[in-house]
Order: sequence, then C-alpha cells, then structure tokens
Amino acid sequence: MSQQERPGSSATGGVNRRLVLAGLAGGVASAGLTGPSAAAAAPAGRPERDRRVEALLGKMTLAEKIGQLQLVGDETTARAALAAGRLGGVFSVVGAAKLNALQRIAVERTRLGIPLVFGLDVIHGYTTNFPIPLAQGASFDPAVAGTDAAVSAGEARRSGIHWTYAPMMDVTHEPRWGRIAEGYGEDPYLAARFAVAKVRGYQGDDYSAPDRVAACAKHFVAYGGAEGGRDYNTVDVSLQRLHNLYLPPFKASVEAGVATVMASFNTISGVPAHGNGYVLHDVLKGAYGFRGFVVSDYTGIEELILHGLAGDGADAAAAALPAGVDMEMVSTNYARFAERLLAERRITRDQIDDAVRRILLVKFRLGLFERPYVDEATEVKAPSPAALAASRQVAARCMVLLKNDGPVLPLAKTVGSVAVVGPLGAATYDLNGTWAGLGTGAGTTPPVTVVDGIKAAVPGAAVSYTPGCTADGTDTGGFAAAQQAARAADVTVVVVGETAAMSGEAAARSTIDLPGVQQQLVAAIKETGKPFVVVLVNGRPLTIPYLHENAPAILEAWAPGVQGGHAIADVLFGVVNPGGKLPVSFPRAVGQIPVYYNHENTGRPADPASKYTSKYLDLPSGPLYEFGHGLSYTTFRVDGLRLSGTSLPARGGRIEVSATVTNTGGRDGDEVVQLYLRDPVATIVQPVRRLRGFRRVTLAAGASTTVSFTLTPDDVGFYDNTARFRVEPGKIEVYVGTSSAATLSASFMVV
Ligand code: BGC
Repeated sequence: MSQQERPGSSATGGVNRRLVLAGLAGGVASAGLTGPSAAAAAPAGRPERDRRVEALLGKMTLAEKIGQLQLVGDETTARAALAAGRLGGVFSVVGAAKLNALQRIAVERTRLGIPLVFGLDVIHGYTTNFPIPLAQGASFDPAVAGTDAAVSAGEARRSGIHWTYAPMMDVTHEPRWGRIAEGYGEDPYLAARFAVAKVRGYQGDDYSAPDRVAACAKHFVAYGGAEGGRDYNTVDVSLQRLHNLYLPPFKASVEAGVATVMASFNTISGVPAHGNGYVLHDVLKGAYGFRGFVVSDYTGIEELILHGLAGDGADAAAAALPAGVDMEMVSTNYARFAERLLAERRITRDQIDDAVRRILLVKFRLGLFERPYVDEATEVKAPSPAALAASRQVAARCMVLLKNDGPVLPLAKTVGSVAVVGPLGAATYDLNGTWAGLGTGAGTTPPVTVVDGIKAAVPGAAVSYTPGCTADGTDTGGFAAAQQAARAADVTVVVVGETAAMSGEAAARSTIDLPGVQQQLVAAIKETGKPFVVVLVNGRPLTIPYLHENAPAILEAWAPGVQGGHAIADVLFGVVNPGGKLPVSFPRAVGQIPVYYNHENTGRPADPASKYTSKYLDLPSGPLYEFGHGLSYTTFRVDGLRLSGTSLPARGGRIEVSATVTNTGGRDGDEVVQLYLRDPVATIVQPVRRLRGFRRVTLAAGASTTVSFTLTPDDVGFYDNTARFRVEPGKIEVYVGTSSAATLSASFMVV
C-alpha cells in the first residue's frame, strides 16, 4: 500500500475532504489546515523549547527516533527495550525507586540520555480515590473535577508519574457500556466543561511543576457509540453527530492545552480510530491545531489486523503512523517495521520526525530534561488528611437524591437504631469503582464502608449490619435475617447496586437492573412495613422502576471513593444537603435504550393518545429520571426569566439570559440552574433541547439570587454533514429550570 493510499486518509464518509476542512476552520482560532507541519509552526513564546526539540531531533539516528515511539507497560519489557535503545516511555509501573532506576538507564546509559515519560491511569485518584467521573459529572460543578485532578496530579507527580491517561471524555447514550462510569454522561457540553476543568487541574499553567502531570484526552473518538453498548464495538456515525456529539469535549480540551490524546479502540464509520487519518490527522492535528502527541490505546495498532484494516503488523504500522498515532502502547509494530516501511516508502521520514518531535516537545514541557528523577523522599504512599477531606466533600457533592417521599430523608441524628442492609453496606474497595488509582492491594487505603460512616455519624445509635444477599448471587437465604434487623431498628438503610467490577472497561451488561436478588431484598425490607431508604452504589444508570414505585427514598451515591461511607452518612443525616443532578438519563427498561434527553424529534413525536407516533406499546415515553434531575432537602423556585434583547447577531453577537432562583424551603441547600436551547427549524434537525449553561448555587433558606448566562453564536450553531459549523438565522427557544424538563421559556432570533 503506498503512502498516498494510506487507510483512513479519506475516511470522511464520502464527503469532500476539502469542504470538511474548510468548515472546520471556522471557529478554530489556531487551525492549521495542512496538518502536522502547520501545527508544528511555533507561535511566539515557544521558540526556545522548539529550538531544543529541533536540535535534539537533529542528533538522533533513525533507530533512536523509532525508539521514542515505543511505550511499554511493565518493568521487564522496559529494561529489554531500553537495552536495545528502543523506548520512549513506560506506563503502569509505580514506585519512585523503581521509576528512578529505569530513568537512570535512559538518562545515563543511552547515547543521547533522553528521559523516559512515565504514565499511569490516574483516573479519579492516585492514593486518594475520588468518586468516579460519572459521579463527578453529577455534581454539575466542574470545580469538583478540578479538585480531583489537582490532588491526583500532586500525589502522582511526587511519586514519579508524569502523565495520566485521563480525562476520559467519551459522551455516550449507552448505559449498558461499562465505561460510562469513566466519563461525564450523555451531554457534550457538560462533558466538555468537566474535561477542561480536569485538564487544567492536572496540568496547571505549567506541567513541569512538581505537583502537575500531563493529561491525556481519551478516547479519540466516538468510543461511547459502541453498538449495543458492547465494549470495543463498531461505531458508525454521521459527520454531524461526530462533530456535534462526540468531538466537542476533545476540541475544548485541545483549546485548554491538553498535552496528549489517546486513540480509541472502535471503528469510526468503517475506519478504526488507530488508522483514521480523518479524525487524527485532519481534525485533531489539522483543524484543531493539536501540537502534543497521540498515543495508541493498549495494543490498538496491532488490533488493526483483527479489525480487518491491516494484513499484518507492518500494514498496521503503515496505517497508524500516517494517520497520526505517534506513540505505540504495548504492541511493537513501529519498533519492528518502521525502518522497513521507510525503505519501502510506505511511511516518510517527515512522519517519523513529526511523531518524535511531538513526543520530545511534551518531555521538554514536562521538564524531564532538567529534572528526570523524582525525589524518593516525596513519594506519596497514602492519602493526606487534606486529600481525604477533599474527597469526602466532593463525594457528597456528587450524590443525587432521586426520590424522597415523606420526606424520609434526612434521617434525624437522634435516631436510636439503624439497620444497614444489603451487599454493599460493608463494601470497601467496591466504593472506589473502576480504575482505583494504585489499586486495591496491600498498602492501599480501603474506603470507609457505609456502615462505618453511619456509626461515626450517629455514635449514640445502635447500628447493625446484615448483608441479606450477595451483589450478584441467587441465594435469598439471608433475607430473613435482614428482615429481622429491619424490624428491630428505627430505620433501615438498604445499600444495593453494583460491585466495582460491574462497570468500567470490558464490563458491559445486557440488563442494567439491580444485579442478583437485590431487588427482592428491597421488597423483603419493604414487607416489614418499617421505614427504609435505598442507597445506590453503582457505575452506570440502572433500570429501577421497582425502587421508584416502592422505596420511599433513593439516594444515588455512585462509586463515591475512599471516603464513601462518611460522605453517604453526611447526606443521609443532612450534614450535607444533596444537590447533584443526573448527567445521564435513567431508562425505565433496557429495551428503551438509547434514551437520552438531547435527541432529535421525529416527524411523529411520542403521543400516548395517538397510535402512529414514536413510542413503545408497553412503556411510557421518556426515561424514568431525566437528565438534570435531582432533588434536595429544601425546595427551589426558578422564575423571572429575562433576555437582554430579542435578537442575536450571527457575527459577534451576545445575549444575556438571566433568571431568579429562590430557596423556598426551610433549609440551606444547592440548586443547579440549567439553561437549554432549541433551534426548531434548521438545515440539520436539532436536538429537542441542548444544555448550554448551568450554575450550581448555594442558597440559605428563603434567599434568592440571579443567575445569568451569556450566549454567543457558538452556542446556537452546529456542525452539518460536511463538518461545517453553521449559525443559521431564525428563532431559538430558551428553557431555564432545574432539569432537562424545564418549562420556563422565552425565545430570541438569530439575525
Ligand atoms: C484502556 C485505556 C487505558 C489503557 C492503559 C486500555 O485498555 O482502554 O483507557 O488508558 O488501557 O491502561
């Protein structure tokens, strides 16, 4: 295959590539439309670093250059690759002494002494686990992600890690997909806001600092579109949806200066991401002007063979490098075949140089040439009290009160006895959820259990724990004991949901009910007639109509992290008034998936009174809990919607939207004021609503405040099927309220 024929280079879904590029240029200030060479042009302020990169590049042999493209995931392979002079970085090796030992070989025993970059999946904590990213999205407070990222970066960097494989920002409509836990849910605007906060939290202004790391925007791109929610599965996506739904968080992260990007395992309209020149070369490096490097996912280049894009490893390398994958993780096709491919003119010297240049640039920015080693005395082996306090505060901020009849919650601190029931009531590491930093082994800090959190919150109460059943077993033999405990207590807290292994990578579920007999356990507790509340610990939306109909109160706690038990108790006993909102719709049944708020209308929108409309015969329309839903122990009113004008000029216009939010209840609390837009007539039909602003406010009982949002043409525009960003004249409807079902509305004209 010649370089001109490289796979993926024209994978634009049959769309004229020049048009696509022209369209993408709009709105991307630093767009370099001719790809790597343009992207490599140095803006003012960077010449010194670029000069050092070029000087080093000029000294490197071809073999040394190819060596920089290799990333390996264990110490033994790393030592062998280093001995052969073929290594750019190492990941998943932890421990400052070990890392320094490897670095010493690279710096002191290779010809040019180029330092290694050390990576790790620090997804929501290094030693201090914060709630999973999906939970963080539920805070509707990007500062939460910033806190996680800053704490994690400090711990990781002081322990010798330079580079994290986060943030994951894959938008998805698929709750069956286990990796929904790792991202921020179904909305591209919410995901972009959190991704940017996380990139900034990890990198700061300068990621050479001793408490910062280089971030990695992943997985590029559309990984969340996996058919059937089955991990790694096919994604066939229109250009408009690619650009409107999946790409926005990545574009925003590049604008925020993210150091690296990871390619995704999926195909995108027939071309696997690792060989997809359109998304990597044309969009990311070209239109977005990304100057950092692209790392493959784990064996992602090798997998081009099984995908059916490449006949062998050489083919795979010949597809991936020109498409724009700069560094190969685990598999070794660049290392083995690049020289041959160059001789055969299937790849070019410029392509190799471009990849090396990008990797060296990040290494220079990390300050590795000045400070290749970590001070072993600073290694972080356990969470600090401050980090634990931050994790606890964040976890409580992420919880969503789905239902609270009575209200049963908050529980009185004067309660005499509490029965904690359910398989997750005494769970430890399961509270961390997927990707638990340093892991769950010896030397790691186990999360505080729910039962211990409750004991600490109400030291005067008798607190019992009875599991009732396991998380996924079929045995109901423990129900009687659980009922007995419930009968003996003033109130029962039923903790059910998913273990950590039930979400995350390669953890798709075909049903998303409560696993095992947990729902029957809730029914058994209900049967006692005693008051109870349900706490959910889980990494994805669950189908819980039974709970909605039968449990008086439901608190969605997600996988809350290392302080989970304390944070749950904080919310149950009203020390913290919950204010989180769902970043993803909760379906009624799995057969309804995908069900998401930002859908297009049909020509026959669902109407229960009319047969020939878009709905199921056996289910009400819409989700059980909509995107943005979440209750509080107090109540709020949003009114006084005002616009600063009636029209928004398509070029350079601005319009202010403001509303008043009042705490109408008797307790201080948080509300998230949400702004949605709808373009009712457009050349590409637009979602019935899309989030374009949100603000979480804390209000004392009786207090009110005004919340304002500024809209610009960027907020009303969209990408079409040539990937051109369009701002079309006409009416825009505005909805403001406390969920995606907001009813307060106004409109303006784009002129
Ligand atoms: C995952 C990535 C992760 C990588 C390295 C892969 O299996 O898809 O998200 O960063 O492994 O651990």
